[in-house]
Amino acid sequence: MASEIGIFLGEVLRRPAEVVAIAPSSGAVARRMTEGLEGMTGPVVEIGPGTGSFTKAILERGIAPEQLTLLETNARFCETLSKRFPRVRVLNSPAQEIAEIGLTGIAAVISGVPVLARPRLQREVVGRAFAVMTENGFFTQVTYSPNAPIGPAMQRELGVIATRRGVVWANLPPARVFEFRRRRH
Ligand SMILES: C[S@@+](CC[C@H](N)C(=O)[O-])C[C@H]1O[C@@H](n2cnc3c(N)ncnc32)[C@H](O)[C@@H]1O
Repeated sequence: MASEIGIFLGEVLRRPAEVVAIAPSSGAVARRMTEGLEGMTGPVVEIGPGTGSFTKAILERGIAPEQLTLLETNARFCETLSKRFPRVRVLNSPAQEIAEIGLTGIAAVISGVPVLARPRLQREVVGRAFAVMTENGFFTQVTYSPNAPIGPAMQRELGVIATRRGVVWANLPPARVFEFRRRRH
């Protein structure tokens, strides 16, 4: 079987606008993205998992594989994910369809989907995720931008507040992790 990195790079070349990265995220990014999942019992959804760097970390946080659903548009990545994580539900569907996968009360959404500077995607992905998340649920997003990948006006429109979890230098390129939570009035 081709290596994880080989499959990832192959898809970067075939679909650069969809993958928008030069390598899978490092373990250090994956750990920062998945902080807070320990002890959670509700369903968790990962969107844009690629070859599974965050998926591995989610399971290492103690989330049962049966509680985890992956939404990934790339069929080759889905094939890899199903082989690597046979007990996890892998759907070859866009993150925009999160409300149609039969889950409510989602505890957390972990996102590798490139939403930066894509307002329509921000509404369809982040907005729809919050519609099916628990009151205290959180959404983490990786980005290469120093600022929140969703600007202040869009945060207000979507009823969320972004906070920076930190910069992870041990990644190519260095990455930032942001957390979105429901705005309290
Ligand atoms: C930057 S890569 C991140 C991959 C992985 N999470 C990582 O950090 O190594 C973006 C991933 O999002 C997927 N993707 C892009 N648009 C998507 C969408 N609308 N819904 C689900 N997945 C999407 C791509 O196919 C790719 O696997």
